[in-house]
Order: sequence, then C-alpha cells, then structure tokens
Amino acid sequence: MTGESVITIEQLSFTYATGTRPALHDISLDIKRGEYIGVMGLNGAGKTTLGLSLNGIVPQSSLGHYEGKVTVDGHDAAVTPVREMAKMVGIVFDNPEFQMSQISAAEEVALGLENLGVPTEEMHTRVSAALALVGLAGFEERSPLGLSGGQQQRLAIASVIAMQPRILFMDEPTSNLDPIGKEEVFELARKLNKDEGLTVIVAEHEAEVLAAYADRIVVLHEGLIVMAGTPQEIFARADELAAIGVRVPQATELALAMEPEAREGVPVTTATAIEWMEARAR
Ligand SMILES: Nc1ncnc2c1ncn2[C@@H]1O[C@H](COP(=O)(O)OP(=O)(O)OP(=O)(O)O)[C@@H](O)[C@H]1O
Ligand SMILES: [Mg+2]
Repeated sequence: MTGESVITIEQLSFTYATGTRPALHDISLDIKRGEYIGVMGLNGAGKTTLGLSLNGIVPQSSLGHYEGKVTVDGHDAAVTPVREMAKMVGIVFDNPEFQMSQISAAEEVALGLENLGVPTEEMHTRVSAALALVGLAGFEERSPLGLSGGQQQRLAIASVIAMQPRILFMDEPTSNLDPIGKEEVFELARKLNKDEGLTVIVAEHEAEVLAAYADRIVVLHEGLIVMAGTPQEIFARADELAAIGVRVPQATELALAMEPEAREGVPVTTATAIEWMEARAR
C-alpha cells in the first residue's frame, strides 16, 4: 500500500521493569494512513504492549527499558504527553463493562472530553455525534450497565471516538462478546476505517475476522515481528503459524487439507474458498 505514513516504529524494544525478557524486541513497522492492520500472536506475544506504545502509555506510564522510536503523526510517542497522544490514538480494550463507570451513556462519553477541557457546548455536540456514529443515537440517558455487550463495546468506542483520534487501536475488542456483539463491533470498525478514514489496528485471535477486514496482518511471537503481509500471504503459511500457536481461517485450513502445496491464491474467506474449490472441481 502506498501513501502517507501515519505511524513509524523504528527498532522498538521494551522490557517491563519486572519482565524477564523483552515484551517487544526490535520492532520496525510503517503504517499508512487509512490502513486496517491486524495483529496476531499467542498470549504474551506483545500485542497489548505494542498498542500501548502507540499512545505513549509505554513507556510513559509503564516502568521499564525502552529503546527505539515510535512516531505518530510526526509526534514522538515516548515524550509527547499521553493526554496529547490520546487525541491522536484511541485505545479500546477487551472488556467494555470494566471500562464503564458513569451513570448515563452520554456521561460515559463526556468523561474523556471533560478531562481534555473541551467546552460544554462543544462537548454536547461531540457526545451526540459519537453516539450516532456508533449506532447509539437516542441512548444518551440510558445506563451503560443495562446495554448488551456489543452496545457497551460500541459505547466504549464512542468514548474514544469523541476525542477525534485518527487512529484506533482495538485490543481484542470482542473477546468477551457473543457472536452478535462481535459482528456489531467489527462492522463498526469497518465503517470507521472505510467511511471515516480512520487507521484501524486490531489485536485479534480470530483469523476469519482479519481475513475479511485487514489490509495487512502482523504476527508477533515473543516480542518479535515474525511475519507481516496481506492475509493471503500470512495465512498461506499455515504450518509456520501453527508452530507459534496462531490459527488460520477455516477456509484456508480446508483448502490446504485438499491441496497442501497451495500457496499462491490460497483462499482466506468462505466466499473465495467456494470459488477456489469450484475451479478445482471443473
Ligand atoms: N504490566 C506488565 N508488567 C510486567 N510484564 C508485563 C506487563 N504487561 C505485559 N507484560 C509481559 O510482557 C509480555 C508481552 O505481554 P503483552 O500483554 O503485550 O502480550 P499480549 O500479546 O497482549 O498477550 P495477551 O494475548 O495475553 O493479551 C509478556 O511476557 C507479559 O508477561
Ligand atoms: Mg493483550
């Protein structure tokens, strides 16, 4: 993908003060504006630490040893105050309920804006706009705790979107949601990426989701980037992925079971798998 880099990570290494090995080791990655990046890797691979390095929480609020450089929209993430970084990079975590603290949905979204010192009038406008964008128009006075998991996660996304970041990092955003909730959140992420032009980075275990949405997938293993490429390039390497505990989509698994040497053009989505199999049945 050509275009303007929005995030540049240069030889980033980070070891938590209490860590026995680097959580991230010599990571270099260039992310273009408007890209949708999937980050995969086993538990402990470094996905969350990578996300936190994008808005400066690592290293600014995490004790440890930091080397290298992360540049976001021209700002050095290691020294630009986290509250400034938060206007550029929004982070959504895996457990929406845990993120809810306020009495009403509107207050939930307003909280971050109050912290940024946004004037009241503008705050109301931004809260309504953010709720509308995530499909929660009219939910202003509802209690976050009475919402479904998918609605809660969309509310968490609204809280982040209200800060108007151009980059969204979602850390396993649907791991606590039912299938309907998962679908709601991934559809919203797609809309924010394609219609609103946000750069979206999603740490996710479900290969099917990334096969459907991601422009590029980055695979982490023990703090290293071991693979980066399109979903087709990545999932064709199913054996190598299995060795580091990363699943491929069922469509790919099935195709490779039929034709173990398939690489070029191996299907990663159900729709392409059907075409692929029809072509072979002729
Ligand atoms: N706050 C912390 N203090 C010390 N070590 C940490 C901390 N957070 C993460 N680590 C360690 O850093 C490494 C990378 O962890 P990280 O949470 O970034 O991985 P992850 O890919 O997000 O894993 P998961 O899938 O479990 O969320 C692991 O070895 C982990 O034990
Ligand atoms: Mg994590």
